[in-house]
This record gives sequence, structure tokens and C-alpha cells, in this order.
Amino acid sequence: MTTQLEINGRRVRVEADAETPLLWVLREELGMTGTKYGCGVGLCGACTVHVGNGPARSCITPVGALARQQVRTIEGLEQDRIGRALQAAWVANDVPQCGYCQCGQLMSAAMLLRTTPRPSDADITEAMAGNVCRCGTYDRIRAAIHEAAR
Ligand code: FES
Repeated sequence: MTTQLEINGRRVRVEADAETPLLWVLREELGMTGTKYGCGVGLCGACTVHVGNGPARSCITPVGALARQQVRTIEGLEQDRIGRALQAAWVANDVPQCGYCQCGQLMSAAMLLRTTPRPSDADITEAMAGNVCRCGTYDRIRAAIHEAAR
């Protein structure tokens, strides 16, 4: 089946079974490998992208459900001021350790700042709860989000 998507502001047509997870379309069909596979069952957050005005786990989001929806991936993060501020804060705070989960962390953080420009610690804890970091970079993630919000 052909599905027309809008990814990072660019229209693309993909040929895939409607049930194919968006994650595999991004990585295998479109070569956009910034979005990571972690658990594959919607629990770790490594595959987080934006669909419309919310975060989405691309590993459990069927591509057939996305016709004419706007998708933002880590490759499009720098397209707006919030994304650029987060990238700079991530670098300034030396956030990543192994780095594997960080694209998903950044996408969740970007959605948080879109909806809550000056988040409290509690806001950050709630918004980032679904993003697991096995290296335990949570304190640096929190600091970077606060810095990007300034
Ligand atoms: Fe999608 Fe873990 S890979 S939530």
C-alpha cells in the first residue's frame, strides 16, 4: 500500500504494509537512522518521534495510520528554535554517555518545551518518564532541559 507522509516538512510516499511500524519505514525505507530501536514494544522511548502535536513511539505506530499527518524526527529537530536550544544545551551539559537513547530523549524534551516553555522539575519528571537511559544521564538531561528553557 502507498502512504503519503509529511516528515520534517517534506512530503514522501512510502510503499509498505499498513501495519508496518513507522520506525522501520524511517530506518529501512527512508534511511533515517537517527530514530533508534530499543525494546520494540513501546516501553523504552528510544524510538520517540513527534506525530502532530504529540510524542509517539514509532516502534508501535503503524504507518497506515499516518496518512497526511506531520511527523518530526530527530533529523528535523534543528528546524525550530526549541530544537536548536536543546541541541546546544545537550552539548553544553555533556549529556550523552553511550548516546543510544538520546535521540528519543531529545524528542520528548522538545515536545515538553513546546507545550510547557518553563517546565518545573516535576514537569520534566513526568514528561521524560517514558524515556529510559541505561547510563543514568537523567540529572544532566534535567539540567539541559532547564538550560534550553531559559
Ligand atoms: Fe519503541 Fe522502545 S523501541 S519504545
